[in-house]
Amino acid sequence: MSSTSENITEAARRILRENDRGGYTVPTAGLYPYQWNWDSAIAALGFAEFDMNRAWQEIETLFAGQWETGMVPHILFHKPDAGYFPGPDVWQGVGPTQSTGITQPPVAATMARMVYDRDPAMGKARLSALFPKIRAWHSWFLKWRLDSENAVCVTHPWESGRDNAPEWDLVLKTMTAEGVGEYTRKDTSHVDASMRPTKFDYDRYIWLVQQGARLKWDQQALREQSPFRMADPTTTFLLLRAHRDLLAVGERLNLDVTGMAEEVALLEAGARSLWNTELGSFDARNAATGEFANCMSNASFLCWYGGIDEAGQLEKLRASLTKTRFPVASHPTDSDRYDSCRYWRGPTWAFMNMMIGFGLEDCGHADLAQEVRTKTAELIETYGFAEYFDSTSGAPAGGDTFTWTAAVWLAWAGSQAKGTL
Ligand code: GLC
Repeated sequence: MSSTSENITEAARRILRENDRGGYTVPTAGLYPYQWNWDSAIAALGFAEFDMNRAWQEIETLFAGQWETGMVPHILFHKPDAGYFPGPDVWQGVGPTQSTGITQPPVAATMARMVYDRDPAMGKARLSALFPKIRAWHSWFLKWRLDSENAVCVTHPWESGRDNAPEWDLVLKTMTAEGVGEYTRKDTSHVDASMRPTKFDYDRYIWLVQQGARLKWDQQALREQSPFRMADPTTTFLLLRAHRDLLAVGERLNLDVTGMAEEVALLEAGARSLWNTELGSFDARNAATGEFANCMSNASFLCWYGGIDEAGQLEKLRASLTKTRFPVASHPTDSDRYDSCRYWRGPTWAFMNMMIGFGLEDCGHADLAQEVRTKTAELIETYGFAEYFDSTSGAPAGGDTFTWTAAVWLAWAGSQAKGTL
């Protein structure tokens, strides 16, 4: 390892330690002061590089917030923090820990499997204890969130993890946000407003939270009343992959996996249904109307991670690797809706690249995986552990000293510097 990459690795470990609040990490101090669902799963993979016990603990604290229904919240508000809005009083979650009422893309099973693979003897008991909890979460998705074609839906843009992606405009623009009332945003006091969602979008996000709280997060009521229900490629591909991984570890640990193979097949059919032929890409779809959003995103490129090797998507990837200096852009750089810094409308994210890279590697596209990895490593080496990066210039954006960017360096991007490739 060169001394530079050694320093970066040291810095990455330090960030995980410094963002540790005792059993869970915050994504970054200030902007995101709580435990976020998919951030934590990625953090576990980073911790597994130097502290296995801490890696397991990260996933365990996440599942300590699981609701009776099986849902695992997108944020757990372990300790109050006045610097964040909307907090627990607005969400009115009904779980064992104060939380939001929505979930996030299910990455935990896959990361738990990867952590387990690093030390099966140590991980066996930890993973066996987590197995029924993860399965309950996946079952909750299967019960409440499939659209008519079995793709997995989100009921709030934030639930997709790609908070302000252009896909959601399709439905948000039809909503009025009437009665949302006065509120004070906190995100724009931490980072520049040009990087954050607009007021138009934010009003609708808050309106949806208020509606969910009013309905006590009852999924049946939400299904009937919420204007926002969109089949989402991120959640669909990630659940598909997570369920495959959970089935594999269940078999390995001799646990009850009844029905899981059929569920994987169902989810795979759902994922394939998100192919938008006209666009030549996987896409999000409005569950109410069947209308596609007509947007390719970095989530479209998670198909391989879900185990779907789609030739048309591969063509799109090759093209975008030529066009975009720092792939994979969250929205195509040549689209008129491309925004280089407003987060899920253009920039690139190291952890999404890692999952895309894992998928490409699994499906035998090692050259492309390598290219995405090298460019991600270059970003981190040059600009540090930013929340995300401008995919045209590479400029760091959003929060810094970010947990998942540090974890990605440790578990994936930095490993070429360590000579493992
Ligand atoms: C932003 C991202 C979301 C992430 C959270 C914490 O809201 O859009 O995906 O989980 O920040 O990092």
